[in-house]
Order: sequence, then C-alpha cells, then structure tokens
Amino acid sequence: MAKATFARVLLVVALSMSISIWPACSLNLLSLDYYEKSCPMALSIIKSGMEAAVAREVRNAALVLRLHFHDCFVQGCDGSVLLDDTPTFTGEKTASPNINSLRGFEIIDDIKEQLEKVCPGAVSCADILTVAARDAVILNGGPYWHVPLGRKDSRTASLVEANTNIPTPNSTLAVLIRKFLFQGLTPIDLVALSGAHTIGQARCTNFRDRIYGSDAKDTRFSLLKASCPLSGGDNNISPLDFVSPTVVDNAYYKNLVNERGLLISDQELTRFGSVTSALVKHYADDPLAFWNQFSDSMVSMGNIVNPLTFLTGEVRKNCRRVN
Ligand code: HEM
Repeated sequence: MAKATFARVLLVVALSMSISIWPACSLNLLSLDYYEKSCPMALSIIKSGMEAAVAREVRNAALVLRLHFHDCFVQGCDGSVLLDDTPTFTGEKTASPNINSLRGFEIIDDIKEQLEKVCPGAVSCADILTVAARDAVILNGGPYWHVPLGRKDSRTASLVEANTNIPTPNSTLAVLIRKFLFQGLTPIDLVALSGAHTIGQARCTNFRDRIYGSDAKDTRFSLLKASCPLSGGDNNISPLDFVSPTVVDNAYYKNLVNERGLLISDQELTRFGSVTSALVKHYADDPLAFWNQFSDSMVSMGNIVNPLTFLTGEVRKNCRRVN
C-alpha cells in the first residue's frame, strides 16, 4: 500500500513537473501494445472503417488527417476537436480555422460505434483519430508507421486555443515556426508535416490572397481566378497539390520549388535562405526522405499530450460528448 502511494506521488510529481512546461514536451505515457489485451481488434476495426470511408470518397482521407492535426494543436491529442457544442459546453468546432471547413466527424463516429460493440469503453477517441490519420495516409499511397497508443479523451475543449494555436493560411514563416515550436515541434517537423498538403483541397477564401498576390507568377493562378474571384465564390475548392491531389508523394514540394504552393503558408517554406527552403528542396529531390521524416513527424505530433489529461481524462462512449 505504502509502495503504491509512493508510486502515485512520484507520478503526480512527474506529471506536475511536465505540466509546467507543457506543451513543449511529451512524456512516455504511450505504448505500441496498449490495446493488446483490452481490445486486440482495435487496429483492424479502425483500418476497415477508414477503408470504407476512403472507398466512398477519396477526400475522406484528407479530412481525417487534418482533423488529427487540429486535435493535437489544441490541448494535445485528446479528441477535444470532436466535441459538439451544447447549450452548456463550448467546443472547438466554431473556431475560425474549423468552422465551415473541418469535416469527417461522422467517419470517426462510425468507427467508434463499431469499437463500442466489440470492446465497450476501451478505445479512446483520441487514439481512434491518431490511428485513422495514419491509415488515411496509407490509403492514399503513403508510408506506414507504428502509432504509440493510450491517449485519454479530454473532458474539456478550448475555443481560444483553437483560434490561437492553429496557424492561418496567410501565416509568415516566422509565425509558422513559432507555432510549431510552441507544440514542441521543430522546423523540420513543420516542413515535413506541411507535406500533408500533398492531398486534399482548400477553399477559395483561404487561397485568394495567394493567387491575387504579387508573388503569384504561375499561369495556373490566373486560371484559378475564374473560380475564385476577388469577391464571392469563397467555398469553391482547388487541390492543395494540383499535380497528384490524392497521392501522398513529394509533388507538393516540387510545386513549392516551382513557386506553385496554393497557400501563402505553403510557399513561405521556401523563403530565401531559410533552413526550411533547404528542406523543401531536399524532399522535392528525395521522395523517400519525405516519407521517412513525415512518418517520424506524425509520431511526434501524435505524441503531443497534455499530461493532465492522463489524470482527469476518460474514454468517451461517444466522441461528440463527454461521458
Ligand atoms: C503548417 C501550417 C498549416 C496551415 C497554415 C494549414 C492550413 C490549411 C488550410 C487553410 C486548409 C484548407 C482548409 C479549407 O479551405 O477549408 C488546409 C487543408 C488541409 N490541411 Fe493544412 N495547414 C497546415 C498544416 C497541416 C498539417 C500539419 C496537416 C496534417 C498533418 C494538414 C493537413 C491538411 C489536409 C489533409 C488538408 C485538406 C483537407 C480537405 O481536403 O478538406 N495541414 N490546411
């Protein structure tokens, strides 16, 4: 008993020490075999759910990958982005980077429903989202990596953090680097993770400033103006990587080298003389180097956890609300 109490004290001390510098740290609270006993089918159920979703609509892979990013940058990867607003609870769905933009919630709902049938109360929504994002990448022809597991779901969300922490598409390189450093992620992670824009679409409202800007020299941008006029057409979409919009390859970086990044934030990575521009060039030349770093950086992003959530969190029954 005394031993158990001591262990508990140690845990609380370790957690409180890391809380004070969170989020610029992540603890080894996760493990690869976390569900081996409690839900051995977990990974295959998530995989089947993602296979079905991507077979229905290939863009579903991009939706889930982005959901995971927006989850992890707010209170750590804790499923907070999945929580619905209620009359007494404010979630993150109305934050400016998310509203009218973030989708794919029902894909996670469907997977959760399947998991609850087989192993009720075992698999957290945060873990489902992390594994589903990995599977999304594979289903679009990208690399495999092992996903550390054991995240807890938060009982809270933060509209303020969602508005503050998630970078906007017009961010400068300095702001992008700062927002990633705040999460404990390096400029290398920034460049590799931005490679997620090798798939998916953006809305005109998010790339208008880019295509009408003085730096937009490519003829493709002139053509885009037809569907993205100076005013109106805000929700008209265009692929982030127009060369291969449904394949996780290095065409995104080749586009950047040719000054064809769709978002200002994408093209910022090639700022003259920056360390990020050297990395962009490296990934444009070496697709395997991109895949390797992308896999490592996805693990680093997935490992952003708020240690407090391990004490106060839960495994939600329904990803949209706290238990
Ligand atoms: C580096 C800073 C980033 C900025 C400024 C940014 C911004 C954006 C914006 C504005 C869109 C289009 C949303 C819309 O028009 O509705 C978008 C789409 C997307 N983002 Fe990012 N993003 C960033 C990093 C990331 C990261 C780290 C990931 C994942 C690892 C990611 C994954 C995606 C995906 C997959 C899409 C396409 C979603 C779809 O098809 O609906 N992004 N991003």
